[in-house]
Amino acid sequence: MSMAEHNLLVVDKDDEFVSAAKELFEGRLPVARSIEEASQTAESGDLRMLLLGPSFSNDESLEHIRNLHNQDPALILMMVADTVTADLLRGAMRAGVSDVIEAPLDESKIEAAIEQFAHDVLKRRTAGKPAAEPVRTEQRGAIVTVTSAKGGSGKTVTATNVALLLNRFPDKKVVLVDADLQFGDVCLLLQLEPRFTMVNAAHELHHLDGEMLDSLLTEHPSGLKVLAAPLEPAFADDITTAGLMQMLDILQESYDYVVVDTASMLDELILSLIEKADHVLMVVDMDLPSVKNAKLALETLRLLKFSTQNVQLVMNRNNSKAKLDNKEIESALKMEIKASVPSDAAVPNSVNEGRPIVETDPRGKIAKGFESVAELIAGKIPEGTSRGGLFGRK
Ligand SMILES: Nc1ncnc2c1ncn2[C@@H]1O[C@H](COP(=O)(O)OP(=O)(O)OP(=O)(O)O)[C@@H](O)[C@H]1O
Ligand SMILES: [Mg+2]
Repeated sequence: MSMAEHNLLVVDKDDEFVSAAKELFEGRLPVARSIEEASQTAESGDLRMLLLGPSFSNDESLEHIRNLHNQDPALILMMVADTVTADLLRGAMRAGVSDVIEAPLDESKIEAAIEQFAHDVLKRRTAGKPAAEPVRTEQRGAIVTVTSAKGGSGKTVTATNVALLLNRFPDKKVVLVDADLQFGDVCLLLQLEPRFTMVNAAHELHHLDGEMLDSLLTEHPSGLKVLAAPLEPAFADDITTAGLMQMLDILQESYDYVVVDTASMLDELILSLIEKADHVLMVVDMDLPSVKNAKLALETLRLLKFSTQNVQLVMNRNNSKAKLDNKEIESALKMEIKASVPSDAAVPNSVNEGRPIVETDPRGKIAKGFESVAELIAGKIPEGTSRGGLFGRK
């Protein structure tokens, strides 16, 4: 059946479950006997989904599953249990499991679970929208989600520089949202010390409005506004997907561009941010793992019936001594590369100094690279002046 092509791994100690699964998938499925083994397979392969058997319906196993989820959040985890209790469901969800299916296993149940997963992502996105009077769409700002399927590919550097470039339009208001909930470093790259973060907004969700949310933003000398990530990883738990969607809805009412930096994973939050976006910038580093992960991410989006129409590939560290060329990458990803940023030691320097390159060297080749990215969203970017902070506040 078709699921076998979706790189599914069956995981269970119990032979009975494994052979039932094998029968269902006509024996073509890889099998792991423990979470540990599954984790090794996940590290070395192109897995997109794990089907966890009934022998893991206990707290200790859920703890291991949670670690696996943290290690590879892009993996979709489905669990099969003999009986689905509320406790098990809650524990499984907390461990990152997308759904728990009641045994015995059958094909339609798995397909239904995958559909449900995609549906939930969409539903939660609409749940965040204010129910009151519909907002006229032409007045709402554009959401620009910056993602990548591999850590350290240059999302935050791209998000900060692109936000600053968009902010050069004298008549456009821009806000940068740091949705890397655990390890957000937008403020570090911009040398900002936020007094408030999205955690404050999350605690006021029931009466949050534009004015209140504005008061929780941090302003960069250029006039760019920032909604900071939680200051400690533990606070990330306070931010729900629906809550963050609500914040974005509010920001869209008064900002022309809402640029969202994200963490490298493909969990429910990121999927919602991709679904909500008017533009998705997928940053791909010029190395094999990065391209492999981008390919898997795109395939996962297609599998979940997400539109990839708004997705634009951004090649980062172009011309670095990688063995891949743009043509090979384009054919692997079945998508054209429309913008690229060269590799240069000035980038890590700008990161360490907290002085973005489009401000310190606006005419240089790296700034031009980021301009080519920003122009995918907004057309011709106004010219910058050196040192930044001179563009006037809005
Ligand atoms: N074009 C480039 N040339 C040279 N170095 C770069 C370039 N782009 C990014 N880097 C370096 O790679 C590091 C990672 O970049 P960045 O933090 O933007 O990635 P990220 O995708 O946000 O990472 P994470 O997944 O950890 O959030 C940066 O510290 C920077 O020094
Ligand atoms: Mg980052």
